[in-house]
Amino acid sequence: MITPATEKNKPTTPEEPLVKVKKVVPPQLVRGMHDILPVEWPWWSFVMSEVGDLAQIYSFERIETPALEKTNLFTRAIGAATDVVEKEMYSFVDQSGDHLSLRPEYTAGLARAYIEHGMHTWPQPVKLYALGSLFRHERPQAGRYREFWQFDFEILGEASPTADCQLIVVAAALFESLHLPVTVQINSVGCPNCRPAYRTVLQDYYRTKRSVLCEDCKRRLQRNPLRLLDCKEEADQALARQAPQLVDFLCEPCHTHFVRLLEYLDEVELAYQLNPYLVRGLDYYTRTVFEVWGPEEGKSALAAGGRYDNLIAELGGVPTPAVGFAGGVERVVSELKARQVGIPLPPPPDLFLACLGETARKKAIRLFEDLRRQGIRVAESFTKDGLKSQLEIANRLKVKFTLVMGQKELTDGTIIVRDMENGIQEIVDQQKVVEEVQKRLATHQPDTLA
Ligand code: HAM
Repeated sequence: MITPATEKNKPTTPEEPLVKVKKVVPPQLVRGMHDILPVEWPWWSFVMSEVGDLAQIYSFERIETPALEKTNLFTRAIGAATDVVEKEMYSFVDQSGDHLSLRPEYTAGLARAYIEHGMHTWPQPVKLYALGSLFRHERPQAGRYREFWQFDFEILGEASPTADCQLIVVAAALFESLHLPVTVQINSVGCPNCRPAYRTVLQDYYRTKRSVLCEDCKRRLQRNPLRLLDCKEEADQALARQAPQLVDFLCEPCHTHFVRLLEYLDEVELAYQLNPYLVRGLDYYTRTVFEVWGPEEGKSALAAGGRYDNLIAELGGVPTPAVGFAGGVERVVSELKARQVGIPLPPPPDLFLACLGETARKKAIRLFEDLRRQGIRVAESFTKDGLKSQLEIANRLKVKFTLVMGQKELTDGTIIVRDMENGIQEIVDQQKVVEEVQKRLATHQPDTLA
């Protein structure tokens, strides 16, 4: 809008602005959130493409559920006494009065989708994977964000430990293909038949030690005693090491399930560590639980999951055994960088198209489209005028060839093909340029590793 000059806002000198601009505070990221800048994407793409490849190999189909679900889905699925539900959900009441939450994880939403779309009538098991962002209001620190990405794999409708085995194999294969050394930690948390007896024994053990427990563990003793086992406090860890172990209390079916899973893993020679302190922070787990740790002990898990045979029935669906795991993309990317893993680079453009002058620019815009339609990946900088600055960009992009179109070439119906490695230039007929380019590209292989 143009403000007319009145007596009031008439400038006294040509430099003085017509309207006084207020100092504006630039917008900032919400705490705990992060941008994924272009420079990050080669790592992210690497992880995503390996996830996609493995999903295809093991026949998982992609699904995406909304970022917003009804709050009570998570309260019922994850458990009201868990940290995730108690402290970490982004929940609000919307304009229609619905109680909604940003999803803190995928599993509950996928279970809802399984029920809502009648997936129990599909051929079983239903194997799904998802890749997107989740929200937890945790204390931000290294590897812990308030919006973070997960790849999530689930097998729904299969009770056999072969499904648990396949998921652990997929997780291990993923880290192998990402060239990241990891250890797989496994435990069984039993089922509602055998866990209550163990809970009582565990509470009895800890009651005598209540006074020395950390404040969190004092609360856990009543509400969620299994979580006492994975407290990160040194003193509580020492107590956990002396605590009775859940594997000794498993009922026959849970015990058999666990033994068979370990036999399958031995058969595929997948190395794992039995970890009696692994209990996980979400209430829906039954039987198998597992985590994938990077080589540095004590750091947070790169991926984690387990079996949740009762969740779908508890949410009102047809009883359906299920098992799954999810991995954190930020943590995996950070591990790739820390270990300096070579990642595939996006291939450089096939060539750069430079032009000099307005008439040549028009022709070049047209030629760009002709080349693109032939499957040739062209880079350009049509807004730059000088040849030098265009060639600098071509060099930075590491293209092998640059096509140069100037006034003389326009008149002659030719174009210059410049080899960027040795600077040798050839003049070719404009009509034959696509053919000429294809011939040259056929003999050139781009670098693909960082
Ligand atoms: P989870 O252990 O809560 O399990 O999360 C899985 C993975 O997500 C973690 O191992 C970690 O890599 C990543 N992650 C979790 N929270 C954060 C955070 N605040 N910042 C960065 N990364 C994070 C689940 O979410 C279950 N739904 C997994 C599952 C699938 N179980 C059965 N099926």
